[in-house]
Amino acid sequence: MAIKKVGVVGGGLMGSGIAQTAAQAGYDVLMAEVGQELLDRGIGRVEGAWKMLSGKGRITDTQAHEYRGRFRGTLALEEFSDRDLVIEAIIENQDEKRKLFAQLDKITPKRAILASNTSSLPIIEMAAATGRPAQVAGLHFFNPAPVMKLVEIVRTIETSDETVEELRGFAQSLGKTPIIAKDTAGFVVNFLLIPYMLSAVRMYENGLATKEDIDTGMKLGCGYPMGPFQLLDYVGLDTTLYAAEAIYKEYPDPAYAPPTLLRRMVQAGRMGMKSGKGFFEYPEKR
Ligand code: 3HC
Repeated sequence: MAIKKVGVVGGGLMGSGIAQTAAQAGYDVLMAEVGQELLDRGIGRVEGAWKMLSGKGRITDTQAHEYRGRFRGTLALEEFSDRDLVIEAIIENQDEKRKLFAQLDKITPKRAILASNTSSLPIIEMAAATGRPAQVAGLHFFNPAPVMKLVEIVRTIETSDETVEELRGFAQSLGKTPIIAKDTAGFVVNFLLIPYMLSAVRMYENGLATKEDIDTGMKLGCGYPMGPFQLLDYVGLDTTLYAAEAIYKEYPDPAYAPPTLLRRMVQAGRMGMKSGKGFFEYPEKR
């Protein structure tokens, strides 16, 4: 099967980034949201990125016009009846995801692959909600999706070789490097990244250093583009907390246990950049 038509469910930061990347790579892309305001915001994010890229001279006006011609939004999931691949990027709630996968199983063509961009939830539970578990896998992008070069292909105990190869080809066609991960909490990257970020929070919580110095330490000492607190704010404190909880549930090792401070910050609504306040402040985002 040649993938030509791609559906993305969810127009948040990740969904819109994935939709943008796929449209740029030549795919016909349909992005679904549950409400007009969310859809408009998602479309605005994609349009904004193309405006920024053409403003910087990274893409021509012709390219921007072509990308726009291949991308549209919808509120009706029924429109996914002609999609070859659907990538789910909705909230990290397994019940919602299972409901969506069951719906997509009814709507999409029998040949279609259904993928999830979840950062830590078991893919097999989504696969089990469909009648095509061999055609279900994880396709985990990294934030910002149009820029980060990695995609994790998450293979469940039911995913077929054919599905893995289709997704490998798809990821490469987006200019990404795919790696294959087993369907275990955290996959490859978050299994290493989450405990690193949690350790930084514990260090700060215990007064071992300031958050600014910890960030500077990792940026200048290890060459990381962002320090752990900058990255926590960028990824989202809520996203990090959910991922940590999911990994801790599967591996009850203290390294994966969310520190109290992280929990309290999420409870306070300090989600990071997206809410205008996390470990640092972002007045322009409020
Ligand atoms: N589309 C296309 N290109 C984009 C873009 C978009 N939406 N947004 C930014 N870019 C491009 C810019 O045009 C720029 O290109 P140029 O160098 O050719 O001008 C380039 O990306 C870099 O952007 P900026 O100049 O705005 O910013 P920086 O140079 O400071 O880089 C960064 C920003 C890429 C975010 C960098 O700081 C970085 O790599 N940070 C680490 C990010 C990271 O670790 N992500 C993974 C998080 S973990 C995760 O996502 C997993 C999840 O499950 C939790």
